Order: sequence, then structure tokens, then C-alpha cells
Amino acid sequence: MSQHFQHDVLVIGSGAAGLSLALSLPGNLRIAVLSKGDLANGSTFWAQGGVAAVLDDTDTVQSHVEDTLNAGGGLCHEDAVRFTVEHSREAIQWLIDQGVPFTRDEDADPEHPGFEFHLTREGGHSHRRIIHAADATGAAIFKTLLEQARQRPNIELLEQRVAVDLITARRLGLEGDRCLGAYVLNRATGEVDTYGSRFTILASGGAAKVYLYTSNPDGACGDGIAMAWRSGCRVANLEFNQFHPTCLYHPQAKSFLITEALRGEGAHLKLPNGERFMHRFDPRGELAPRDIVARAIDHEMKRLGIDCVYLDISHESDTFIKTHFPTVYERCLEFSIDITKQAIPVVPAAHYTCGGVMVDGHGRTDVPGLYAIGETSFTGLHGANRMASNSLLECFVYARSAADDILTQLEHIDIPDSLPSWDASQVTDSDEDVIIAHNWDELRRFMWDYVGIVRTNKRLQRAEHRVRLLLDEIDEFYSNYKVSRDLIELRNLAQVAELMIRSAMARKESRGLHYTLDYPDMLPEALDTILVPTTYAD
Ligand code: FUM
Repeated sequence: MSQHFQHDVLVIGSGAAGLSLALSLPGNLRIAVLSKGDLANGSTFWAQGGVAAVLDDTDTVQSHVEDTLNAGGGLCHEDAVRFTVEHSREAIQWLIDQGVPFTRDEDADPEHPGFEFHLTREGGHSHRRIIHAADATGAAIFKTLLEQARQRPNIELLEQRVAVDLITARRLGLEGDRCLGAYVLNRATGEVDTYGSRFTILASGGAAKVYLYTSNPDGACGDGIAMAWRSGCRVANLEFNQFHPTCLYHPQAKSFLITEALRGEGAHLKLPNGERFMHRFDPRGELAPRDIVARAIDHEMKRLGIDCVYLDISHESDTFIKTHFPTVYERCLEFSIDITKQAIPVVPAAHYTCGGVMVDGHGRTDVPGLYAIGETSFTGLHGANRMASNSLLECFVYARSAADDILTQLEHIDIPDSLPSWDASQVTDSDEDVIIAHNWDELRRFMWDYVGIVRTNKRLQRAEHRVRLLLDEIDEFYSNYKVSRDLIELRNLAQVAELMIRSAMARKESRGLHYTLDYPDMLPEALDTILVPTTYAD
């Protein structure tokens, strides 16, 4: 039997953004935080680098803003950048107050509290401004926030719950178009339950799983973006998919990132013959923004017909490497790569979705009552290329801003006491799951081949043709069979892939992460690619 629940706030996603929002709301609100799998399965847990913020007295808001604008290829919204950076110090203080064990600076002057934490550097940043917990910052933040959330009786943390679709007044044929909650698959019972909520938050991460090779965990399927789109929200700039330049290249190493902080601390990118090559592409060398470094590696791999390039930090002392990069050191050693002595084989892999659901400065989407925060959202911060470690910052700043906004509206919002149950009367158990598995593989491979680091009109047209076929097939499957996590994710992934392809085809220039051989130049005017839904899935 399916069940009905009612909450004040429903948070879809249990990473940095979702937990921060839940913790920023008062204890008298009933809050549910949903996780598709185990709570720790999201991208936050795997983030290595850190959080960019203006913390050092020699750094300035203006400098952080300018670096972000430069990396963003003219497409960042300056107001969003300034808003985020101006709130960076208080966001970090909030994390410190929650108990996040950031790495301390051994040389800190106790007289100057602003200097008590170690700040590292990453590509595009002209200052050391990345606060971190060694090379496992995401895990440290996640564990701390989770611990805090567990102590709050008003926050229910629900695992194995997969949101299928949002419930909107429009979908139910009621007046207005407010979001009223979501239908959610409980993987333990196999039932789709109804979650009514006064406010619904999409904090489900990005869609890097749309690519065959990615640094992201399995859940990064663009669920929030697809659900928001189906509910009538605009999306923007989905052609800007960031490829992290350095993921471990090893047949058994699934999705292992080699943090950019290695390059920040002096690691060199090398060809198999030991030659450094980044200065041929950008005067900033290894510390150029990610789009440039990933493209340079891709270029060298194709030019020389090699499977990977190498990242070498072995010139630093053993102690330095093991203290600053314990996670990378241990993980590489599992594959018999001793990074204190050897260079690491690396390749670029899909890492971050710069576009997303359009929101305002409070994370509000086009649908009243529905918010999007973190990687799911498009705030305008990242422009055509996200600068390293700005994304976690965005999660905290916008989660807190969305929470403030919810508080201002709370008194005036009521939703119907009962919502209709999910209708499963027309569907049966699937006897053809092979279709789902096949479509997953096909989608991720053609996205990698045709919508990757370097694009052409022809490749995009091929991808468009294939994604349309897949969407039809998936739609038919969805209409006839009971939903499962794989089917829900595939449906979302294919939807977001289609939006990405459409966005890429609309951009007739090369800018930031979108590079096409057919339009290699950048146009004088920087414009967002905004897609507007014309129909709603009911
Ligand atoms: O390289 C990294 O540690 C990743 C940082 C980021 O994506 O912001």
C-alpha cells in the first residue's frame, strides 16, 4: 500500500545544499530530507578540493569576483557572483560553527584568527583562498552536517527514496501552479508514496552521469533538472558541462578524481616522455581554468594517440604529499602507484553541470513553492566555466538564502490536506529490463562521443537524433511498466541530455566549456541559452 506524508519542507537530495538548507530552518518545522540511496551516496561526499572564500586579509571580494568572471568566459551574472562571494566568509563561519574540521595552518599566527586555517590554491584563483579538510573536504563537511541533522528531531533523513515527479497544482488541475510536493518511490516497499509539502527543494546535484566517463557517483542523473523542467521551470546554459582535467586513469579505478589542489600545490602535467606541455596552451600553465586544461589534455591525447597524460608531484617531499593529499596517496597506492615517486596517469572526465534550473537570489524557481539549490540550479555564478571550489560555496550561500526566504513566506502558505495517490493501475512489472540497461549505455556513450569536450554540428545532430529515439522508447516503457530507480534515472538522464544537446546546438560560438569546431570564435555578445518548457508532463 502506498502511503501519504505531509511536511513543511521536502528536500530532495541529502548533500551539502540539502542538509545546509534543512539545518538553516528552525526546529519547529517538519522537514524531510530524501536520499535516493544511502545518505552518503551524493557528490558532496566525494568532493576533495574545498570551498573558495575570501578569508585571508591579503585577499579581497573584488579579486574573487574578478577571478570568477574571468573563468566564466563573460557569461557569469555579476550580481550572482558578487552576492555569493560577499557571503563567503559568513558561510564558512557557519560551517566552522557546525564543527567542520578544516585543516589548520601550522604556521598560523594565533593573534590573527583569519589565518588559523590552511588555504590552498586551484586553477583560475589568483589567491590562496580554498579552505579544505586535507583532500577529503566533502566528506568532512558531509559527516559534520549529517551529524548535526541527526540531532534535530524535526529533520527526518529518509534513505532509498527516489523522487519520481513533482506534484503541482497545474498537474492536479487545481487553481494556480504551486508545487505541492512530490511522488516518491520507496525502494524498500516498491510503492510510490505521496509527499505533500508547503515548500519543496530540489538539491539533487548535477547530471555528469550523462557521460560515459565521469568523476561523479552513480546518482548524478539530473533528476532535479528533469523534474523541474517537466513541471514548467525554465533551464539555462546546459551546454556548459565541465570536464575535470585530472581523473585517475586505471582500468579498475571507477570515477576517482585527482584534486586540482595538487596542481595548486605545484604538480606538473606531463606527456609520457616527461615533457611539460601546459605553457604551450596558457601562460598560467597548470593553473589555467579547467576548460583550458581539459582541452589541452584532450588535444595532446588526440595528437599523440595516447590514452592518458601524467600528473607529477613527486618533486615535493613525502611528508608534504602524505599530509596534504592522504586520500589521493592512499587510493593511488591501492593501484600500485606511489605518488611520492611516480607520476599519476590522468584523463579528463565529466565533472560538473554548470547550467541548471533557473533561480533567483533565493533559489526560487519559476514554480511557486519550488526551490533549486546547488548543482541542480542555475544562479548565474558559474558562467561558461565554473571556477574550482566555487560550487560548494554556492551550495551554502544559496541554501541559507532559500531558508531565509521560506521563513518570510511560511505563515501565508497552506496546501491541500490530501493529495491524490500515485496511479499505478495501468502498469505492470517489466519483463524487458534489458531495454533500460541498453539505453543507459547507449545514451552515455553517444553523449561522450558527440557532446563532449570538442563538438561539431554534425556530432550534435547525430546526438539529437538518437536522444529523440531514446526518449520515445523510454516514454513508452514508463507508461507501461512499474517505476524502478533505474527507469526513473534513465528517464531523467535522457531528458537532461536532450536539453544539453538542444542548448549546445543553439550556441553558435565557442565559449568556455562549449567548444565547437564549426564556430571556433567567441561572439562579441555573451548571452545565456534559456530553454522554456512549452508542455507539461501530466
Ligand atoms: O579538483 C577538485 O578537488 C575539485 C574541486 C571542484 O570541483 O570544485
